[in-house]
Parts: sequence; structure tokens; C-alpha cells
Amino acid sequence: MNTYADEQKSYWIETAPSGDLQPSLDADITVDVAVIGAGIAGLSTAWELARRGRKVAVLEAGRIAAGVTGHTTAKVSALHTLVYARLRQTRGAEGARLYARSQMEAIRHAAGIVDELGIACDWEDTAAYTFAQDPSGVDELKAEAEAAREAGLPAEYVTETGLPFPVAGAVRVTEQVQFHPRKYLLALADDLRRQGVVIHEKTRVVGLKEGEPCRLTIENGSTVTAADVVVATHYPIFDRALLFTRLSPRRELVLAAPVPAELDPHGMFITQEQGTRSVRTAPYGDGQRLLIVTGEHFTPGTADVEERFGRLAGWATKHFGTLDFTHRWATQDNDPTDTVPLVGPMHAGSRHTYVATGFGGWGMSSGVMAGRLLATLISGEKSPWSDLYDPRRLLPAVREAPTFLKNQAKVAGHFLGDRLSSGPAHSVDDIAPGDGAVVRVEGKRCAVYRDDSGQVHAVSARCTHMGCLVAFNRAERAWECPCHGSRFGTDGEIVQGPATRPLEKRDI
Ligand SMILES: Cc1cc2nc3c(=O)[nH]c(=O)nc-3n(C[C@H](O)[C@H](O)[C@H](O)COP(=O)(O)OP(=O)(O)OC[C@H]3O[C@@H](n4cnc5c(N)ncnc54)[C@H](O)[C@@H]3O)c2cc1C
Ligand code: FES
Repeated sequence: MNTYADEQKSYWIETAPSGDLQPSLDADITVDVAVIGAGIAGLSTAWELARRGRKVAVLEAGRIAAGVTGHTTAKVSALHTLVYARLRQTRGAEGARLYARSQMEAIRHAAGIVDELGIACDWEDTAAYTFAQDPSGVDELKAEAEAAREAGLPAEYVTETGLPFPVAGAVRVTEQVQFHPRKYLLALADDLRRQGVVIHEKTRVVGLKEGEPCRLTIENGSTVTAADVVVATHYPIFDRALLFTRLSPRRELVLAAPVPAELDPHGMFITQEQGTRSVRTAPYGDGQRLLIVTGEHFTPGTADVEERFGRLAGWATKHFGTLDFTHRWATQDNDPTDTVPLVGPMHAGSRHTYVATGFGGWGMSSGVMAGRLLATLISGEKSPWSDLYDPRRLLPAVREAPTFLKNQAKVAGHFLGDRLSSGPAHSVDDIAPGDGAVVRVEGKRCAVYRDDSGQVHAVSARCTHMGCLVAFNRAERAWECPCHGSRFGTDGEIVQGPATRPLEKRDI
């Protein structure tokens, strides 16, 4: 029988715990560049800028590499499921080639950093596969293998993989990598401090005044004056360009279980079937590997997460045998409407503000790529792929109009929200211990949670980002906003942006 860890925790965070807290900012400072967010995108950008001699401050609302990057599966790969055939259509052969080259260069660049700094981060060279079990997927895989090869990747169509079950076909790309993301990024942060970069944790940015210079405001009123600002907060917290209309949040689940080393499939695998299934392993000691399985994507706040964990566990067991899941966790990424990340100037009038977002489930190579690209742009230089990733691009947005309109219709539904009262509760009394629901109290929608001791915690059900209604995620005991993915604790505190203010307390 399978066994499950009750508590959700990321293997990466458990095995590379945060060191001493970097002091939060409690004074006004002036720097060349302020980077908001210490995930892979923010830290990579800060590192590239520091290497160019810039005075940099990193401002992180939580802890270093503990956001999405601390909960990823950390395949560092240029094979992004089935992206190349689509890119060839939407951006032409040259666009697909630039995408492949920018991603491969990012992987090699990260390898160079690992070597140069001597980072022990379980860096393993391996192959990446996109596979299908259903023969109806074979044509698409063959087209992807051809498009990826034409784009310059070492890609081929194969019918054999190391997986312990037959596949109908697969695209295989060699010269790819898997690693431990936090071991890598905590070492990068140490190096940043050695280079004089200040990193402030528990420092939430809440305001931006663009200008020459730009001025950022921190939650506690402190300010940061900077010539340039990089918003690397995953979902952008400042959004004059309305990027939120081109990004949709996608939450996914992760399960991990030790397996004997002989069961290691030796590679990184993903399939679009059954709502995505992804497989990799990591070193685990004692003749074992840690099998890491991902899947079950859904819009935050719209799924029974416990049931979804059960489905994913069922799939893993069916394919790998009985497993003892030592770790499980969940996280989310933002899908751009045209599949290409948004990295570059934040909006049409931007002169000194930049953004890196929309990694669509592939932020490891793209995060490193974003760091290099933004450092190049901030230094006034050109990059061969700045147009490809430019957030101000218009043409693809028009081409992607159907996805765009679908996203906006969904958001409108969640804003109105009548369909979305989480849980079956109609009144506070209906809410069981450990559960939460949106209920009307004196005509106002309240997000009400009852803790295990029976005490009720009530907050406003309107997300502080743009006012959509939140919904309760029972498995993670969090309020989630389906519109752009903000997440809040049971007392309304921010767990994940783009919201920068907690849910208001309600006295009921
Ligand atoms: C289940 C799952 C598996 C994945 N697996 C892979 C994979 O195998 N390979 C791959 O390439 N990609 C993968 N991804 C995608 C990848 O993990 C992400 O794209 C990447 O980690 C995003 O990095 P980031 O730096 O943009 O965001 P984050 O790591 O979330 O960093 C953003 C930081 O900004 C901070 N922040 C937010 N708001 C503020 C504020 N107001 N003030 C200050 N700081 C703020 C946050 O606290 C956070 O630390 C996966 C995604 C999911 C959901
Ligand atoms: S995250 Fe945008 S409205 Fe909630």
C-alpha cells in the first residue's frame, strides 16, 4: 500500500534549509539597480549585474529561493514539452532557433557558474524526453522532434526510453541537466554577498514610482532609490502594461518517494497526457534515488487538491509500483498566452523598469536566460533574443486572441464570483473544523476559516490585487485567488503575490 506524508513540504527546502535571516530593510537606501524577488529570475539577474560592477539590492518578501523556485522540479532543459513546432508556426524558423539557442546558452552558462563557484548542487547531465503513451500523440511528437532539431537542439524521435512502461513515442533531447535548485541559489546568494550585493529578506515592496531615478516603497515605509528596477516577483506586482491579461496561473502537485537505484529511468520525462505527468529522480543516498512525479494542473482555488494528490499517487504507483511518498508539495507557474516568457522592459513607456515572468513551467533555464538578458538590456547592450521575449510584443498577442479572450472570460466569472463559493457551507455554522468557505455575513462576502479548535477566523473574500473572490484550498489551508493566483493564509496574510496587501480582517 502507498503511504503519504501528511504535512506538505518541499524536498528542496528540507534538504537545503535557509541560513540566517538576511536583515529586512528598515532604512532608505540608494543603489544602481533594485531587484524585487529572490527566486531564480531575481537572483540570476542580480548576479549578472553584480558581475558587471553594478551596485545591486535584492528585496525579497519572504526567504531566498523559497517561492516557486523552492517548490519546482528543477529540470534545466531546453525541451519545453512541445514548444518548437508551435514556435515555428507563430514566430517562424528563426524565432524557434533563437528560443532554442537562448535556452541552451542559459544551461551552459549555469554549468559555467557551477564550475566557477564550485557549487555542490547535485548537477547531473542527462536527457530530456517528451513522451506519449497513446499512439494518437505520435505525429505531434515526430513534428516536435523535427522542429526542435531544425531549431538547433540535439533532438530525435525515439520509441525506447528508460521508463519502466512502454511509450508510443518520444522526443529525446540530450545535453540537458537536472539539479538541486536551492543548493545552487543559496550558493549564488552567498557569492552575491561576497560581491557586495545587499539582500533583504522579509522585505515586501508595495509601491513603485517610475522616473529618473525610480523609487520603491517597502511595506514599513522605507524607500529604495534606484536607477533601474527589475520586477522578478513571479506574477508581476506592478503592471502598467496589463500583463495580467496575458498570463494565467497554473497550480500543480508534486509527489516524491525513494526508489531503489535500479528503478532510475535515467532521464527527465514529461507527457501532456492525463493533464501532464512529469518524472525525474534526484540523488538520495544508500543505493536509492528520489523519484519526483508532478502533474494535475488546475487554476488555483478551483480543485479538490486532496483528491488530485490521490490521482497523481495512483498514476505513480501504477507505473512504478508501491511507493512510500516521503514528500509532497504544490506550487504554481504563469502561462503566457503565446507560450514565450515575458522578459524585458515592463511597458511601452518603460525606460528603467523591467520584468521577468510567464515561464510557463520552464523557469529554470528561462530564469537564468532572463538574468542574462535583463543585465544586457540594463547595460544598454543588445541581445539577439530581446525582441523574442519583449513583453511589449503585440503581434503574438493578437494571434493568441482566443486564449487571451478565454482567460479574460474566466477572470470576469471569478470577479463576479457567484459560482464560486468554496465548500458547501451556506453559513458560518456549516463550516467544519479545518475547513473554510466564502459566506455572506450581513450582506458582505467573508472568507471564513474554522481552525481545529473550533475558533473562527474571518477576512474579506475580495482579493486585494484586483478584487476577485478567493476560494479555500482545504489541503493547504489557504485562500486562493483564481484570477491571477494570489494566495493568503487563514488570517489573510499574503502567502504569494501578485497581491501586496493582506485580506482585510472581518469581525463576525
Ligand atoms: C509543479 C511545478 C514544477 C516545475 N518544474 C520545473 C522544472 O522542472 N523545470 C523548469 O525549468 N521549471 C519548472 N517549473 C517552473 C519554475 O519553477 C518557475 O518558472 C520558476 O521557479 C519561477 O521563478 P521566479 O524567480 O520567477 O519566481 P519565484 O521563485 O516565486 O520568485 C519570486 C520571488 O518574489 C518574491 N516576491 C513576490 N512579491 C514580492 C514583493 N511584493 N516584494 C518582494 N518580494 C516579492 C517572492 O516571495 C518570491 O521569492 C515548475 C513549476 C511548477 C508549478
Ligand atoms: S490575484 Fe488578481 S484579483 Fe486576485
